[in-house]
Amino acid sequence: MAKIIDGKKISADIKEEIRVEVSALKEQGREVTLAVVLVGEDPASQVYVRNKKKACEFVGIRSLSYELPASTTQEELLLLVEKLNRDDSVNGILVQLPLPGHIDEDEVIRAIDPKKDVDGFHPMSVGALSIGQPGYVSCTPAGIIQLLKRSDIELDGKNCVIIGRSNIVGKPMAMLMLRENATVTVTHSHTKNLKEITREADILIVAIGKTKFITADYVKEGAVVVDVGMDRDENGKLCGDVDFDSVEKVAQAITPVPGGVGPMTIAMLMKNCLTSLELK
Ligand code: GUN
Repeated sequence: MAKIIDGKKISADIKEEIRVEVSALKEQGREVTLAVVLVGEDPASQVYVRNKKKACEFVGIRSLSYELPASTTQEELLLLVEKLNRDDSVNGILVQLPLPGHIDEDEVIRAIDPKKDVDGFHPMSVGALSIGQPGYVSCTPAGIIQLLKRSDIELDGKNCVIIGRSNIVGKPMAMLMLRENATVTVTHSHTKNLKEITREADILIVAIGKTKFITADYVKEGAVVVDVGMDRDENGKLCGDVDFDSVEKVAQAITPVPGGVGPMTIAMLMKNCLTSLELK
């Protein structure tokens, strides 16, 4: 039976560490402020934004909330981002994605001051990560590194296979794993012989958005399996891209859904808000 990697516990530990740091900063008269921008009424985004604001409250980071109607124009949103860029009291800017279809997401991300890009989505942040320079790292992959390190899982020299090549997870994950001296393979929907490749993985990171797609026959005995999926099973129950029940029988360690990668994303966002003070 695999060891279950407890993302809820690890994220709570990280948030507690941040709470202590923020409180020490406050005593020096320094405050951290995150501006959270939500456009439209996507229910999932509303939940994410609410949870981000709750985490801010817990760690003592001030959050400013901008909830704009779905009819907001590109220009109006860009004006708000520019205003927040200029505001010295704002350390981090987060524009919740996805944005309504009439808005050019890339242009909005590019408009955010890279020094305030706590999501790590700006091309400057992505570029800095890929050449090993300081900058913000996308929260989910950064959280996965913390999950593994805090579970005493060795990364150096390990064979890491990533399924999924998104800008938010797959690509930055590959860069972070390289930084940890893992040997990295990125697979995706056009990959041939996927199973042969995943069966070579010491560490398998799954971010494909297909319910319970990875079954035990994709996994090497003793591998570490990280499930980034957030899906619903046939009964509407939350589950991941990994078939937990079969894979936990062959894996050495596995992250559950819920309670694995999910809680880490917000903890790392809080950490990025602290990093904003160093990058200011
Ligand atoms: N939508 C889904 N995940 C994220 C995230 O990490 N940041 C932002 N801004 N939007 C998201």
